Amino acid sequence: MKVELTVNGKQMAAEVEPRMTLLDCLRDEFGLNGAHTGCEHGVCGACTVLLDGQPVRSCLIFAVQADGYDIATVEGLAPAPGELGVIQDAFCETHGMQCGYCTPAMILTAHALLQRNASPTREEIVETISGNICRCTGYGQIIEAISLAADRLSRINAPQAGGGR
Ligand code: FES
Ligand code: FES
Repeated sequence: MKVELTVNGKQMAAEVEPRMTLLDCLRDEFGLNGAHTGCEHGVCGACTVLLDGQPVRSCLIFAVQADGYDIATVEGLAPAPGELGVIQDAFCETHGMQCGYCTPAMILTAHALLQRNASPTREEIVETISGNICRCTGYGQIIEAISLAADRLSRINAPQAGGGR
């Protein structure tokens, strides 16, 4: 079956088996390996991508079900090849990653959170990432990274004094 998606702002299409998951489609058909394969049954969250801006487990969605939707993967968050976005940078700075296996999913989950809530509390961050397992148990630094990114993004987005003149 033909599936057509918008992935990181680009139109993409592939011929897939109806049973192919969105995760396998992104990785094997489109070469986007930022979505990681973990448990493959909806538990770990390593395969998280954004579907129309909402975090979803791409191992639980068939590629054909995502036909016509807008998908974002971690590759789409970098401002330019070789550069890091604010959230990615904050993860580096706070050591919010150890092996890195959970990191793309954590970053996308944080991105979705900060899109709807620019200044989340620690409890809101904890609640938001509670669906994503970090096998290295680096949760403290991950929470710190998201908090730092929220702080930096709110400064970037704050109206400048004297702006508009
Ligand atoms: S690989 Fe999808 S939730 Fe674990
Ligand atoms: S950094 Fe290793 S799984 Fe989270």
